[in-house]
Amino acid sequence: IQADIPSLKDVPSFDVGAAIARAQTLGEHGKLLTKHFDSVTPGNALKWDATEPREGEFTFAESDHLVDYATEHGLKFRGHTLAWHSQTPDWVFKDGDRSLTATPEDKALLLRRLESHVRAVVGRYKGRIQTWDVVNEVVDENQPDGMRRSPWFEVTGYDFIRTAFRVAHEVDPAAKLVLNDYNTELPRKRQAFFELVRKLKAEGVPVDAVGHQLHVNIEQPPASEIEKTIELFAGLGVDQQVTELDVSVYTDFVSSYTTVPAEVLAQQGYRYKEIFDVFRRQASHLSSVTVWGLADDGTWLSSFPITRLNPPLLFDDELQAKPAYWGVADPARLP
Ligand code: G3I
Repeated sequence: IQADIPSLKDVPSFDVGAAIARAQTLGEHGKLLTKHFDSVTPGNALKWDATEPREGEFTFAESDHLVDYATEHGLKFRGHTLAWHSQTPDWVFKDGDRSLTATPEDKALLLRRLESHVRAVVGRYKGRIQTWDVVNEVVDENQPDGMRRSPWFEVTGYDFIRTAFRVAHEVDPAAKLVLNDYNTELPRKRQAFFELVRKLKAEGVPVDAVGHQLHVNIEQPPASEIEKTIELFAGLGVDQQVTELDVSVYTDFVSSYTTVPAEVLAQQGYRYKEIFDVFRRQASHLSSVTVWGLADDGTWLSSFPITRLNPPLLFDDELQAKPAYWGVADPARLP
């Protein structure tokens, strides 16, 4: 890794984090991680399919490794995620072969499963995981009530959200509890997300912060929309975090480069700068900004929505600083 470049830890006012798996704690990746980052989020290791693949059978090998590593190296830890519709084993939503329904009995069963999951996972890392994405991706702005029709919502209504936050807070009262979602910078989704957070806060559900994932591309959405979102939520008095930032080099779902042109990487650098200009202006409302991967060799975008070369992060495959890094660390040094 480059020893002579400034640490991202020196970006003032908020923590800078990276999503990681075990591979990012080893060798040169580990050196890059500890040189530049204040905080980590496991990309997959704490999801339900990873931690409780069968009812009551918990598998914590990878998450233990990551939490131990973070503790040893003074990295803060963001837990991700306790209740989500994706990467959740089928058994959670079933009774034998039968899918759970909205009857009181099924609802109670699903909420019991959620409660014991949250107790086990949050309890295991109490005091070592400072922030939890408690509930992930529940908004669907195309529904009349703005809520995604997931099995969670179909069976329990809003109660899974209330239960997850209540139990997480009870088990670790010091942890910062986050409601996380994507596309929160788009006007209709922003509004639906806002209404949900306002409703939960009014009920006294212990939502401490909102998470804006911010999976964006080199052109869209405009930085001004990101700023509007942060300003809107600032009015609710909740903390805010950027939880999964990356900047795709494509503006559509089909294009594919064999080599990404240097001018596109430069454009990406200016795009990171413009987005971090918003964060720097809004720093009093933001406690952390996490990029969804340590370096381009570990990005989900190389297989989504199609398999293609898509380097969306701050460091390249060789762990060298890209223009994107300079857009964050020192925009005066952009090409
Ligand atoms: O674990 C298996 C492995 O055994 C197998 O060999 C391999 C072959 O494909 O697949 C592995 O599982 C993959 C897993 O990532 C771990 O690498 C899954 O197929 C793959 O679907 C999964 O993708 C993850 C995705 O969530 C799934 O929804 C990405 O890594 C992860 O970065 C991504 O993260 C989500 C956030 O949690 C929520 N917000 C959106 C974000 C991006 O989709």
